[in-house]
Amino acid sequence: MPPTQPSLHPLRYSSDRAVVRVTHASVGVTDVMAARGDYLLHPRPGFISGYDLVGEIESLPAGSSGLRVGQRVAAILPGMGAHTTRVTLSPSLLVPVPEALDSASVATAPLDAVTAHFALAALPPGSTSVLIQGIGGALGAWAAQLAQARGLRVWGTASSRSQAFAEGLGAHILDYRDPDWMNTLNIQSGGGVDGVIDATGNRDLHRVVAPRGRIVRLAFGGPIGRQKSATARGFVRTGLHRFADPSERVCSAPMIVALRRDAYRRVLADILAGLDTGSLLAPEPVIYPLDRVAEAFPAAGSAVPGTKVVLDLG
Ligand SMILES: NC(=O)c1ccc[n+]([C@@H]2O[C@H](COP(=O)([O-])OP(=O)(O)OC[C@H]3O[C@@H](n4cnc5c(N)ncnc54)[C@H](OP(=O)(O)O)[C@@H]3O)[C@@H](O)[C@H]2O)c1
Repeated sequence: MPPTQPSLHPLRYSSDRAVVRVTHASVGVTDVMAARGDYLLHPRPGFISGYDLVGEIESLPAGSSGLRVGQRVAAILPGMGAHTTRVTLSPSLLVPVPEALDSASVATAPLDAVTAHFALAALPPGSTSVLIQGIGGALGAWAAQLAQARGLRVWGTASSRSQAFAEGLGAHILDYRDPDWMNTLNIQSGGGVDGVIDATGNRDLHRVVAPRGRIVRLAFGGPIGRQKSATARGFVRTGLHRFADPSERVCSAPMIVALRRDAYRRVLADILAGLDTGSLLAPEPVIYPLDRVAEAFPAAGSAVPGTKVVLDLG
């Protein structure tokens, strides 16, 4: 069961906050982790899940420029709370949604696409190649598109579960269950890739990185029920490898939204523009209405590659 039912929870009105009526919000693996108490940033029950949303502005603080009441907007929240019917939030989180785009489809994108963008931006300058772990997953598929748009040579790992979808992304695909996949990658790439984007916590990845390359960690894996401690250990380990060769970095969308507000907004606007022109493709939304929210969480935990679960909050 999710930790909360989407609800009309009490709004904290404040003169400097906007009110947005949420119409669509994605449910991802992070929400599923949080729902079972396995997510370090929301470790205890009693919170509302959901990091990203699409909705309509109901009110704005005086002096908000570039936004208007009634406008359709998308946002990532710095802390969870999107699975609800109304949010109060800083207008600086809001990005207008181009008119032609479908709200459910847009709702699949913000968290995953923005995370993928900043993960790629964290690779060493001049990188020409990247390995994307779990390329057939929600984050992986965005990273593949955005890496190709930057002209990188892209390798990705996938098991048979997502192989067919992964192959359609135009990358070189390796099966992470093949014990020899790292050697194969080193041969194919001529001595290792410049960067790795990883959400599994695999500690052997330094074997596939070229000198002065980098591993960007988005998550740290770990067995179900022990993912909080795996994340805490992963954060520390990554910090210790910051100046190692290969170097390591953590990329966390909630932290970027909290600390780099203008950059976040620019990137989300670019991603929505890419969807609008068709240069980027969103996954297929699998829509659950409000009264089926309890089904949406298990569905998100085993989503078909190329799809993303979205709550229709009306
Ligand atoms: N840092 C951030 O800001 C941020 C933002 C969003 C999400 N996340 C985290 O990123 C992770 C991935 O999220 P997601 O939405 O992309 O999940 P997802 O759609 O379930 O995809 C996970 C992918 O991981 C692959 N995988 C599983 N075990 C693997 C292994 N041992 N080696 C290589 N690949 C493996 C799976 O491949 P197969 O299907 O082929 O088995 C699948 O494609 C989650 O932990 C999530 O919490 C982080």
